[in-house]
Amino acid sequence: MHLSPVGISRRCFLGSLALCALLLLLIPTLQTPPRQGSFPQPRPQPRDEHRAQNASSNAKDPIPSQTQGPRIFTGSRSRDPLELRDIFIAVKTTRKYHKSRLQLLFQTWVSEAKEQTFIFTDGEDPELKKKAGGNIINTNCSAAHTRQALCCKMSVEYDKFIESQKKWFCHMDDDNYVILPSLLRLLSSFSHTQDVYLGRPSLDHPIHAAERVKSDGLTSVKFWFATGGAGFCISRGLALKMSPWASLGNFITTAEKIRLPDDCTVGYIIEALLEVPLTHTLLFHSHLENLQRLRTDSILKQVTLSYGGFENRRNVVSIAGGFSLAEDPSRFKTVHCFLYPETRWCPHKVRH
Ligand SMILES: *[C@@H]1O[C@H](CO)[C@@H](O)[C@H](O)[C@H]1NC(C)=O
Ligand SMILES: *[C@@H]1O[C@H](CO)[C@@H](O)[C@H](O)[C@H]1NC(C)=O
Repeated sequence: MHLSPVGISRRCFLGSLALCALLLLLIPTLQTPPRQGSFPQPRPQPRDEHRAQNASSNAKDPIPSQTQGPRIFTGSRSRDPLELRDIFIAVKTTRKYHKSRLQLLFQTWVSEAKEQTFIFTDGEDPELKKKAGGNIINTNCSAAHTRQALCCKMSVEYDKFIESQKKWFCHMDDDNYVILPSLLRLLSSFSHTQDVYLGRPSLDHPIHAAERVKSDGLTSVKFWFATGGAGFCISRGLALKMSPWASLGNFITTAEKIRLPDDCTVGYIIEALLEVPLTHTLLFHSHLENLQRLRTDSILKQVTLSYGGFENRRNVVSIAGGFSLAEDPSRFKTVHCFLYPETRWCPHKVRH
């Protein structure tokens, strides 16, 4: 075959073009793969900074101001946006609160998240079943407010979540108002495939317990846990790893070994056994805090609210709106009408 000089340089040219194209194709694969770490990806605050917000629950609580609240929301992910239906919301209750507490929840936030909210209770209630359909789960656990009964319910919640195939597990109490848009925003800044445990630390220091699961109880472990009364969330990725200590009744066995309540046991499995840190957030609130101290203009940005102390001192968020304190002692209806002004029973003047 005759190779003219022109032919050669043309071949060289074509050859180098092909090489360039090959290199271009290779560039993405040559880059180092993202670290498969166990930390939630968008971590704008290092763990210690989260920890620095530790004078957290109870009365001394510094209420995060609107402008310098936790920064975890800045990272928004565009790929595969999280939807409300990806979240499994478990509400723990007991037979005696079906009327006084659940009714209010069904009237307010649960009505906006019917499909994915599951009520875990301890007694049959045909009337409630009519209202909530298949989402009422009788755990058959004891109605006593004992550690065993509470752990029994958590164990059923866990199993139902795993069964559900949803991306996030959020545990709530029956005196929590869940601000669904905030919950969605918060969870959207993390990935459900990573190890994420989100909640409000119940103390301003980690708790110590004798290590009785991995060893003989002679060594002690230190761990943080999210207070159950304020609600907490766990990613599916992490929940699956908890399985040896949490699934099919194992949760009860684990709790019995360390002799701690349900929310502590969750913290123990995650922080002490799996060594995944709690991501501290002050956006979850329980009735144990002074809720009046929450700034009015930040209330709708929180993830959960609560109420308590009707008997002596009213402990509710201070928000004025369509309902008086007598009409809406928990303030849940007022909050709801700010979030969903089109609701049938919301007074007109609340509408923006
Ligand atoms: C957090 O706790 C540590 C030790 O318990 C304490 O020294 C520190 O001052 C606390 N931080 C805040 C912000 O209160
Ligand atoms: C509780 O008991 C009933 C009746 O035996 C049963 O149908 C139901 O599945 C049990 N619930 C759970 C969560 O095991």
